[in-house]
Amino acid sequence: MKLQIINGPNLNLLGKREPTVYGNLSFEDFFETLKKRFPEHELHYYQSNVEGELINKIHEVGFSFDGIILNAGAYTHTSVAIHDAVGGISTPVVEVHISNVYAREEFRHKSLITSKCVGMMTGFGMEGYALAIEYFKTRTAAK
Ligand code: DQA
Repeated sequence: MKLQIINGPNLNLLGKREPTVYGNLSFEDFFETLKKRFPEHELHYYQSNVEGELINKIHEVGFSFDGIILNAGAYTHTSVAIHDAVGGISTPVVEVHISNVYAREEFRHKSLITSKCVGMMTGFGMEGYALAIEYFKTRTAAK
């Protein structure tokens, strides 16, 4: 299975950014452990702080990959353009948030993306990305 992980703004700072909320691990280090946990899958990772670049990546993989795992960071709460990009592709998308967005400020309670996704993982820390991979495995096995 070909799966694309896409992380949005400020997630390049994981490991340094607000460790009490997001933990101490960089995504690059976590990604190495993910590849070892799921050697049977082709995992790709992309991060950008730029909204249009995230949209370009969604378009690039959105008709050929088996799944996209998207943490759009703060754009989750603001971006009609990312909502439209997710709605415009055929590859299924799982939304992931490291923190529990519903336990935080009210402006994080609204996601513009969820309605176009298969579902959402929020509050499971980095493990949310692994749970999303498990979902895609189950989904493929059920076909
Ligand atoms: C986040 C939650 C968002 O509200 C925030 O803007 C982020 C990270 C998360 O993974 O918990 O940048 O998507």
